[in-house]
Amino acid sequence: MTTPHISAKKGEIAETILLPGDPLRAKFIAENFLENPVQFNAVRNMFGYTGTYKGKRISVMGTGMGVPSIGIYSYELIHFYGVKNLIRVGSCGAFQGNLKLYDVIIGMGASTNSSYGDQYNLPGIYSATASWDLLYKAVKVAEEKDIPVHVGNILTSDTFYSADKDGNQKWMDMNVLAVEMESYALYCNAAHAGVNALTILTVSDSLVTKEETTPEEREKSFTKMMEIALELA
Ligand code: HPA
Repeated sequence: MTTPHISAKKGEIAETILLPGDPLRAKFIAENFLENPVQFNAVRNMFGYTGTYKGKRISVMGTGMGVPSIGIYSYELIHFYGVKNLIRVGSCGAFQGNLKLYDVIIGMGASTNSSYGDQYNLPGIYSATASWDLLYKAVKVAEEKDIPVHVGNILTSDTFYSADKDGNQKWMDMNVLAVEMESYALYCNAAHAGVNALTILTVSDSLVTKEETTPEEREKSFTKMMEIALELA
C-alpha cells in the first residue's frame, strides 16, 4: 500500500516518528542518530527512514514547510500507516526577550492565524495542544539530562514574510513564546485521530533581538533537541 505522497509499504514506518521540516535534516538524523536506518520514502524528495535507537524502533521523515504540507504528511502517517506518536523537531523565531538562540522550546499549545481548524466546523475556536503523555515525558527527559527547556504556547503562522507589521507584537503581548509554521495542523490531526503529537523547537532566530544563527551553528543546538526527542521512542 502506498499513499499519494508516501511510497512506504505497511509496517515500514514505526509507531513513533520524528518530523523535521527539512527532508535533508531527516537524512542527517537517520544517518547520525539511528542504527540500521532503512529509507522508506523518496517521493518529492521527502526522505523518510526507519531504524532503531537504543533498541527501540523509530522513524524520521521530513514534513516540508507550513500547515498544508505537514497536514498532508501527518494525516497519511496516522491514517494509512498507523503512526501513534508524532514528534516535530523544528526551528522557530523567538517572540520573547529572555529566549536566546539555540534555546529549546516545547509547544504545550499552538495558536494560529491559519484557517486549518475550519474543516472541523466547530462552534468555537479550537485550542490545539500537545499530547500530555509526550509533553510530560519530554520535560522529564530534559530534566534528567539537565537540558533547560521553555514550555508554553507557540504560534503556527501561515506567513514567514507578512504584510501585517504589527501582527507579531500582538502575539508577543499574549506571551506566546515563539513562531513556527506547522504545529497547529499537527496537533489538530493528532487530536482528531486520537493519537499523540508534540513539538520540540530550537530557537534559530529572534524577532526581538533580530539575531540569527548560521547553518553550522544550528547543528550543536539541534543536538539538545534531538537528545530529548529520541528518548520518546
Ligand atoms: N517565522 C516563522 N517560522 C520560523 C521562523 C520565523 O521567524 N524562524 C524559524 N521558523
